[in-house]
Amino acid sequence: MNNFVFQNPTKLVFGKGEIAQLAQLIPTDKKIMITYGGGSIFKNGIYDQVKEALKGHTVAEFGGIEPNPEFETLMRCVAQCREQGIDFLLAVGGGSVIDGTKFIATALKWEGDPWQFLAKPMRVTEAVPLAAVLTISATGSEMNNGSVISRREIKEKRFFFNDACYPQFSILDPTVLYSLPKKQIANGVIDTFVHVVEQYVTFDNKAYIQDYWAEGILKTLVEIGPKLIADQHDYDNCANFMYAATMALNGFIVMGVAQDWATHMIGQEITALHGLDHGVTLAIVYPGVISVMREDKREKLLQYGERVFGITQGSEDERIDQTIAATADFFRSLGVAIRLSDYNIGDDTIEEIANRFDARRFMLGEKGNITPDKVREILHTVK
Ligand code: NZQ
Ligand code: ZN
Repeated sequence: MNNFVFQNPTKLVFGKGEIAQLAQLIPTDKKIMITYGGGSIFKNGIYDQVKEALKGHTVAEFGGIEPNPEFETLMRCVAQCREQGIDFLLAVGGGSVIDGTKFIATALKWEGDPWQFLAKPMRVTEAVPLAAVLTISATGSEMNNGSVISRREIKEKRFFFNDACYPQFSILDPTVLYSLPKKQIANGVIDTFVHVVEQYVTFDNKAYIQDYWAEGILKTLVEIGPKLIADQHDYDNCANFMYAATMALNGFIVMGVAQDWATHMIGQEITALHGLDHGVTLAIVYPGVISVMREDKREKLLQYGERVFGITQGSEDERIDQTIAATADFFRSLGVAIRLSDYNIGDDTIEEIANRFDARRFMLGEKGNITPDKVREILHTVK
C-alpha cells in the first residue's frame, strides 16, 4: 500500500425528508445564492422543499446551469453573486450544478480570467463556502473537491481541483431519484461503476480493504442497477445506489492505491466534441481500455472477474475475455448503446482525440503508458 494523507470535511446528511435540515445547516446571517439546472427541481417538489426550509434566510437564485456546465453561463452567475454580495452558495442539482457551483465559488475569489485555472492544471485554494442538495446520483461531486467545466465555443471540457470546494455539507435524500429519467439512472450507475474501476482495476497494490470496498460497491451496482431501471421507486435500492455513488469518489477507495482515469480522460474528449452524456462516453470507452490494456491489468482483471462477476472457469485469457464481455453486457443491460458507431462517431473523431492527447503530451493510465497511439487503438476497438 502506498503512503497517503486522507481528509474529507464534507458533512453528509442522508435520508428521506432531510432537506428540511437546511434550516439549521446554514447560518441566517449568510446571503445565499441557490444554483440549479434546467428546472427539474420545480416539477419534482425539491425546489419547494428547499424554499420552505430556507424561509428565514436571505436567498437569491440562479437557474439554467446546463448538463456539462457551461463556462459562459457560470460567469453570468459570478457577476450576479458579486453584485448581490453573496457569501454562501447552495447547489441544488446533480454533478453539473454542483461542479458549476464549485467553479463559481472559486471564480469569485480568483483575480483575473477564471479560464486560467481550467486551461492548465494549477493550484487553487480559495472559494466562497458552498453546500449541496443532491438531486441525481452519479459523480460523487457532493463529497469531493473536483469540478468539470465545458466551454462549447472552443469545444473544450476541463477539470480543476480545489480543497476549498469540498461542500460544507451535502443532503442526500434518496427519494429525489424517483423522478429521474431512466437514461439518467443508467448514466449514474455507469459513472459510479467506472469511478470504482478507475481506482481498482489497475495492478495489485496490496490494499486489501480498499479492494473489498471497491468490490462491494461494484457488486451492489451489478445487483441493483437493472432493478433500478425496472423500478426506481424502491427506497432501499435508491438509498444504496445513492450511497454507492458518493462512496465511489469521495477519497475512501483510493487511499494508498494507483489510479487509472484513462476512460474518463478519453470520454471527456468525446463529450467535448460531440456532446454525449458523461456516463455514455464511459460505457463506450471502458471495454476498449480493458481490452487494449489487458496485459498491464491482467492480475486485477482476473480478481475483478472472479469477485464481481463470479468468473472462475477457463484459462486466464478466457476468463479475461469473459470479464470484458460481462462488463459490456452489464452496461448494455442498463439500456445504453456502447459503440461509437451507435452515435455516428467515426475515424475523424478518433484521429482528433488521439491528436489532442499528442499535442498536450498526455500519457494516460496507472502506469502512464497509454500513448496517443494506444488511445487510437482503444477507440478503434469500440468503433
Ligand atoms: O437540469 P435539470 O432540469 O435539473 O435536469 C437534470 C439534467 O438534465 C436531470 N436531473 C437531475 N436531477 C433530477 C433530474 N431530472 C429529474 N429528477 C431529478 N431528481 O438530469 C440531467 C443530468 O444532470 P447532470 O447534473 O448533468 O448529471 P450528472 O450528475 O451525471 O453530472 C454530469 C457532470 O458531472 C461531471 C461530468 O463530466 C458532467 O459534466 N463529473 C463530475 C465529477 C466530479 N465533480 O467529481 C466526476 C465525474 O467523473 C464527472 O466528470
Ligand atoms: Zn465520472
